[in-house]
Amino acid sequence: MTGEEIMVRSSNLTYRVLIENGALRDLGKSVRLLIPSGRAMLVSDSNVFSLYGETALKALKSEKWEVTAFEVPPGEQSKNLAVVSRLYDAAVDAGLDRNSPVIALGGGMIGDLAGFAASTYMRGVPLVMVPTSLLAQVDSSVGGKVAVNHPRGKNLIGTIYPPRLVIIDPGLLGSLPERQLLAGLAEVIKYGIIENKEFFLWLEENLDRLLRGDSARLARAVGESIRAKARVVEADEHERDYRRVLNFGHTIGHALEAATGYSHYLHGEAVLAGMAAAVRIAIAGNLIDSASSERIYALLNKTGFKKPPSGLTAEKIIDKLKHDKKRRDSDLIFVLPSGIGSAKIVPVNDEQLIKQTVESVLH
Ligand SMILES: NC(=O)c1ccc[n+]([C@@H]2O[C@H](COP(=O)([O-])OP(=O)(O)OC[C@H]3O[C@@H](n4cnc5c(N)ncnc54)[C@H](O)[C@@H]3O)[C@@H](O)[C@H]2O)c1
Ligand SMILES: [Zn+2]
Repeated sequence: MTGEEIMVRSSNLTYRVLIENGALRDLGKSVRLLIPSGRAMLVSDSNVFSLYGETALKALKSEKWEVTAFEVPPGEQSKNLAVVSRLYDAAVDAGLDRNSPVIALGGGMIGDLAGFAASTYMRGVPLVMVPTSLLAQVDSSVGGKVAVNHPRGKNLIGTIYPPRLVIIDPGLLGSLPERQLLAGLAEVIKYGIIENKEFFLWLEENLDRLLRGDSARLARAVGESIRAKARVVEADEHERDYRRVLNFGHTIGHALEAATGYSHYLHGEAVLAGMAAAVRIAIAGNLIDSASSERIYALLNKTGFKKPPSGLTAEKIIDKLKHDKKRRDSDLIFVLPSGIGSAKIVPVNDEQLIKQTVESVLH
């Protein structure tokens, strides 16, 4: 595959997303094209660092970058302010200045952690995203949201801080555990359903091979996904709140994650169940024709739903949904498919319908 470049326009700057197999080996050069070589910090978790840290360091050093590596244990427990504080210490010790890039090499956890640190160190230093999980490649590395967890809530402390550059090497997905790949595919399918019919049709044809980790097809899926997200984020500037369509599957998805203490479902697994639930609500509201809803459901089903844990009840999930509603002081907002490749943002207050839908998720 030859490289592909996508420009993403955010409120006040435009950044480049580079997608290319082998892109990691050119990391030093790609960053140098944007920022003159000097000091830099490479942030990674120990899983990713042991696989790709050496390649990244070599690529940076060969282009005259003086790199400090900052490695954290894998998993959500590293995404907090105590770790950010240690990262600041390391940045000060290494003499990083306001032009020194922070390079996030890892999944969404590392992107959020390093991104949050980059947004605040010296009032903001350049952030370079090198996403390594499918979820991070198709979602969290683009859009500019960065955050860390607080003991009282996930992603409670955060800001919007667009990266200066995103470098995506789909070849890195080869080492991703299968479960993580599947969870990332949920977000990929989401884009097909909410805004790109042609991509949805392509996914119908190619899902099997994507599930088996076919690298050329994964690279194509990543490109289509980023383009979809970029279109939505850009359109949002003219059509307020359109960005919310990206939350398709996330209303019930987030409630499922919260009701299970963020330990049973991966984010994408919960979103997959949430998308199926949203399709049901769309059918009940006559928002979608049955041929389309059946095709959407079939694609979701092919990806494979995760079994809910035995103690999970509809009440627990509804409780989390209500909590969400209280926080926003509004109706429950759902993103519902209105066909293949289109979605609508709809307030739903039919409690009976919500209860039935939540129960369907449990069966
Ligand atoms: N900022 C946003 O817009 C946004 C959007 C969605 C999710 N998120 C955040 O992203 C995080 C979830 O992201 P994630 O699913 O990537 O989780 P993650 O970063 O924890 O990565 C998942 C696991 O895969 C491993 N891994 C990553 N790349 C690998 C590779 N190439 N080979 C082998 N192993 C690899 C990691 O070490 C980790 O164990 C959450 O913290 C979530 O809040 C942020
Ligand atoms: Zn998501």
